[in-house]
Amino acid sequence: MPVHLTINYGNSSIQINKKLLQRRATWLMQQQNATDYNISILLTNDKEITWLNTHYRGKNKATNVLSFPSADTEVESSIFASIGIKELGDIVISVDTALLEAEELAVSLHDRITWLITHGLLHLMGYDHELSEKDALVMWDLETKLIKQLHNSRSTQMPHLAINIDHVATVRNARGVNEPDPVTAAAICELAGAAGIVVHLREDRRHINDRDVRLLRETIKTRMNLEMGADKEIIDIALDLKPDMVTLVPEKREELTTEGGLNVSGQKKKLAKTINRMDKAGIPVSLFIDPESKQVKAAHAIGATYVELHTGRYCDATSELEREREYQSIVSAAEEAYQMGLRVNAGHGLDYQTTAKIAALDTIEELSIGHAIITRAVFVGLDQAVREMGKIIRDASIVF
Ligand code: PXP
Repeated sequence: MPVHLTINYGNSSIQINKKLLQRRATWLMQQQNATDYNISILLTNDKEITWLNTHYRGKNKATNVLSFPSADTEVESSIFASIGIKELGDIVISVDTALLEAEELAVSLHDRITWLITHGLLHLMGYDHELSEKDALVMWDLETKLIKQLHNSRSTQMPHLAINIDHVATVRNARGVNEPDPVTAAAICELAGAAGIVVHLREDRRHINDRDVRLLRETIKTRMNLEMGADKEIIDIALDLKPDMVTLVPEKREELTTEGGLNVSGQKKKLAKTINRMDKAGIPVSLFIDPESKQVKAAHAIGATYVELHTGRYCDATSELEREREYQSIVSAAEEAYQMGLRVNAGHGLDYQTTAKIAALDTIEELSIGHAIITRAVFVGLDQAVREMGKIIRDASIVF
């Protein structure tokens, strides 16, 4: 973790979102190719920054930001190097001054602090606006550009939340009545912020049935993703229904839920034929695959528009080590697919603990989540369960 952020600011009425600022600082370090380095950021008050300004710069007054490059001395530099640490330096920011400036500039406190972090970081990288007018211009231009990029990255980086409502139908079917209705559930999910609804029309119709998909097609206001096996009867229904997209999954009657990803490399011909038929009907196809390079390459080769990476092994991991290994497979597969031009979704088994790390990946466009949200809804209501998951995704992915 290259960014160490400490808050030494005693005013409890000012809420500072440490994680948000840490993420922004990390993003800024990435833009400067400085991720090999550690950086320390201290958020403090006017009194402390005045002391530092007096002591180190001979200026007896408060300021907004101070930067202290590391390894100013050869001794310090060799000590750090000998233990393998590359320190970029320290940035000290006065929250008191940042608050006043935020008010003057009509921006939020966090945006002002972010600007000051950017300014401090550029100083640590060797930029200095005090050297000449030209240097000042160069630094100002870069600062402005970075802040603008940071703004833009939020809108493109946040994955959409698509909710799988199969389990609402499971509860309904358990009684053989017509409540709870998945059509109502879809509307509640959308009102609570879901960007899409997923339903799996299984051959045995154990949850979602033909009536559901027909009505959902008419009533879903966001996007309908029809999950299905590449089976003739279901393919014909999909071609007739024309959902916004289909996700092809392996389907076995005896399984409780989709167990593994599709073996795309082992059935290229059959899947390519289905993709072709969907293509002609204008329906984009996603292939649900395990996060493996072989499957990504095969999905790309047969013309899929999306892949959905199976997150089940990551979610079910029983040790931190295993979870990290599974997570890294998702990171690499997502990166490979994204670089190839595939659109990347992910899902299966994601819950209120495991989602954040996946949502933070900027290669992933949509998360498909069902069981965790529907089970939480039993206790807190569907609206709240969706909003809580939406917040987890937002918090994990917002850079700015
Ligand atoms: N993606 C696919 C392809 C699935 O089959 C499922 C389960 O129906 C999900 C996502 C959602 O998984 P979960 O219900 O565990 O969130």
